[in-house]
Amino acid sequence: MVQATPFLLVLFLALGAHGLSAEKCSLTGHWINDLGSNMTIETVNADGGFAGSYHTAVTATSNEIKVSPLQGSQQKGPNQKGQPTFGFTVNWSFSDSITVFTGQCFVDDDGKESLRTMWLLRSRVENVRSDWKATRVGTNIFTRL
Ligand code: BTN
Repeated sequence: MVQATPFLLVLFLALGAHGLSAEKCSLTGHWINDLGSNMTIETVNADGGFAGSYHTAVTATSNEIKVSPLQGSQQKGPNQKGQPTFGFTVNWSFSDSITVFTGQCFVDDDGKESLRTMWLLRSRVENVRSDWKATRVGTNIFTRL
């Protein structure tokens, strides 16, 4: 029993540390993605709703880029076990387009957070014959600034 005590203590601390790192996966804060775009997410409310702002580094248009609002939702259901899934929409203030992102917040073994996302960018087209070319798809990885 005496010999087992230090082992159990180390095991407890290891499991505890892992639990804490999973808890730390919070969307709130300042993020940068692999394109160099910057995003700020304000407080996530009790229902999982959040708002923020997005400064894209690139555009599919010839318009001058401006900071744009985003609104999103994080999974807060009873099954939530940390490293939550989420979605948000960016309503571009300088173009006729909308982007929806969906993703998951991950914490790696060093406690570093990242947001792995997929997005759909819907651009406005002049008529239904052009609908086929109106949607782009891609992925972005965000890391905390
Ligand atoms: C537009 O060009 O009409 C609006 C800007 C779109 C920027 C896209 S959204 C997906 C991708 N990730 C980014 O950070 N920027 C581009």
